[in-house]
Amino acid sequence: MENTSPLIVVDTLIKTYSGSRKRALNGISFQVAEGECFGLIGPNGAGKTTLMSCLLALIKADAGTITIGGINPDDLAVREVTGFMPERPSFEGWLTPKEFLNMHHMLAHRPPLSVALDIEEVLNRVGLEEQCWNRVIRTFSRGMLQRLGLAQALIGKPKILFLDEPGSGMDPPGNVLLRSLFGQFKKERITVVLNSHHLDEMERVCDRVAFIRAGKIEAIETLEEVALRPYVLFVKWLEDDDKNIVEKLQRCAQSVNAQLILQEGLSAKFSVINSEVAAGLLRNLITEGVRVQSAQPEQTTLERLFDESSKAGLEGTPKKYD
Ligand SMILES: Nc1ncnc2c1ncn2[C@@H]1O[C@H](COP(=O)(O)OP(=O)(O)OP(=O)(O)O)[C@@H](O)[C@H]1O
Ligand SMILES: [Mg+2]
Repeated sequence: MENTSPLIVVDTLIKTYSGSRKRALNGISFQVAEGECFGLIGPNGAGKTTLMSCLLALIKADAGTITIGGINPDDLAVREVTGFMPERPSFEGWLTPKEFLNMHHMLAHRPPLSVALDIEEVLNRVGLEEQCWNRVIRTFSRGMLQRLGLAQALIGKPKILFLDEPGSGMDPPGNVLLRSLFGQFKKERITVVLNSHHLDEMERVCDRVAFIRAGKIEAIETLEEVALRPYVLFVKWLEDDDKNIVEKLQRCAQSVNAQLILQEGLSAKFSVINSEVAAGLLRNLITEGVRVQSAQPEQTTLERLFDESSKAGLEGTPKKYD
């Protein structure tokens, strides 16, 4: 993180919904730097949306504090620089996207002169096809609504974005588009708080992720560090009539300190301590004449950590990743 003073500071947040005996948030603390993409990961009901709602001052925590740029999140100065895509966006179904975004452009206090251009730009940015721009929203599919929700979050040219499950309901091109948008946010130094169950998406775009379970943060991980953890490499190769394939695989693994876990037909699993070792292993395999067809981690890094975190949670001993 380049900036030493954090933009978002959350301190010991506690929230219990009325009528519930369980705390939805049970002492959440973390900080987000300006320009950072911070991810929230956790099982259903963990408290992610509740946390986001507190950050946006849509609901009030029972205890604890939040500051954004040193001020309270319900301050208008914060709202003017904030964009939000809710988990379940609701739209004025009788409006067209252009009318809907016009209203939000005005609410965000953007200069009225640029409204037409701004709307066109944002609709193109989220890939909503031009033939829908003047169609009433109630006729939209789920994915189209999702794109419009994203457009609404972006129309005010926010400096801070809160996105609750932006990829849900999106088709594959929509997810590719999302990924490129995240790249643009990074370049524009937009701070993003992102909540998603798509761990591969999170792994690609987040600088850090917080694992949330039962209203608590179990661990905060930096993605760069996470990439250096040991993992299982799944390798497939093309037809091979070598009778001593297992010995060959073992030899290739041993010389780079990897371990053969399992060989089955034309595939094998190796345990590697990092990507350097994986690269060395693949080099050895190819040199030894194994016609490698593909090699990939068995699980994405976050999937693996999520699994570890789930097991720790079940045993009641929160695992710390440090
Ligand atoms: N409006 C509400 N009234 C009462 N309880 C609520 C309300 N909203 C959420 N909860 C409860 O608070 C807890 C946290 O819910 P929250 O929606 O924050 O979870 P989440 O992590 O976003 O889950 P998901 O991954 O399913 O979106 C859950 O136990 C949920 O039942
Ligand atoms: Mg949620």
